[in-house]
Amino acid sequence: MVTIGNLQLPDFPLLLAPMEDVSDPPFRAVCKDNGADLMYTEFISSEGLIRDAIKSRRKLDIFDYERPVGIQIFGGDEESLSLAAKIVDVTNPDLLDINFGCPVKKVAMKGAGAGVLKDIDLMVRLTDAVVKSSKLPVTVKTRLGWDDNTRNIEEVAERLQDVGIKALAIHGRTRTQMYKGEADWTLIGKVKNNPRIKIPIFGNGDIDSPEKALEYQNRYGVDGIMIGRAAIGYPWIFNEIKHFAKTGTHLAPPTVEERVAVCKKHLQKSVEWKGPIVGIFEMRRHYANYLKGLPNIKEFRGKLVTLTTEPEINEVLDAVTSYYTGFEFPKTEIELINYHEKCPID
Ligand SMILES: Cc1cc2nc3c(=O)[nH]c(=O)nc-3n(C[C@H](O)[C@H](O)[C@H](O)COP(=O)(O)O)c2cc1C
Repeated sequence: MVTIGNLQLPDFPLLLAPMEDVSDPPFRAVCKDNGADLMYTEFISSEGLIRDAIKSRRKLDIFDYERPVGIQIFGGDEESLSLAAKIVDVTNPDLLDINFGCPVKKVAMKGAGAGVLKDIDLMVRLTDAVVKSSKLPVTVKTRLGWDDNTRNIEEVAERLQDVGIKALAIHGRTRTQMYKGEADWTLIGKVKNNPRIKIPIFGNGDIDSPEKALEYQNRYGVDGIMIGRAAIGYPWIFNEIKHFAKTGTHLAPPTVEERVAVCKKHLQKSVEWKGPIVGIFEMRRHYANYLKGLPNIKEFRGKLVTLTTEPEINEVLDAVTSYYTGFEFPKTEIELINYHEKCPID
């Protein structure tokens, strides 16, 4: 069992990574159904929460069926992070996570997100302020360091543990790397194997198959794995890893019926939570991911991204099921999109 403060997770938990514009309640609902053990909200600006900005406030919505769930905040100022922590407390998530990894210029250059990686004393002060302000277990998600010359995660882990964080998730890249190159897990392994470190260490970066998840678990000894991009359009990744860990065999890839059923649920939750206009519009970015691998899908996809009501979209999705019934999806590698140009957040 893995323990984060008073929160208990199964052995080797699989975490859904926080992802801006992706890990909202509709997406979390389908990841929960498919085996995610702990999930996070999109990151929330501490300043936005204090100003009561609608976008920030909406991101606080969590539902009982998705527990355990963590709310993630970011900021570069002790006072606003403390206040934000108190606001988050009222919404009663299972944990409060601080993002010290976001490389986006407008965040990092203001000293928040990964910007804090340049100033560890500040990072420790900010964390301390949040721990002291919150009743929740506080965790941190960060990168290896600012750049190749400052890969200071080992020091960071010890000092953050000392001020009371209850778990640390590490993305195996530096801030200047953005999403380039491969994630380097060797330093993550070093942090985990430091005898001074008692809190759970979660590894993150480029996990896209059951084999890789198990290989990295064995090689680096991490307490659990956090998965981001591989779950987009493919929430089955969580149960596939669990099944492989237990039996050494692969689950059959989801059939077209299963893919369409999950896509419909995602749409339904999207409409429920965002309302029909925004819900249908924002769902458009997901169809291609769910239907990846189907030959000649263009025409169907074209309809899905132009129709404006849920029943019409469901009709097209039903037509996809009938047309492709029995189609055998090849065992394809999950594509790890390089988001650093499209959506450069972390
Ligand atoms: C679209 C997108 C949005 C992201 N938003 C956040 C975020 O809000 N907070 C955060 O800590 N990381 C964010 N990340 C980073 C992921 O949590 C994760 O660290 C990164 O994608 C590496 O994991 P992966 O290789 O499994 O995708 C985001 C990543 C993507 C692709």
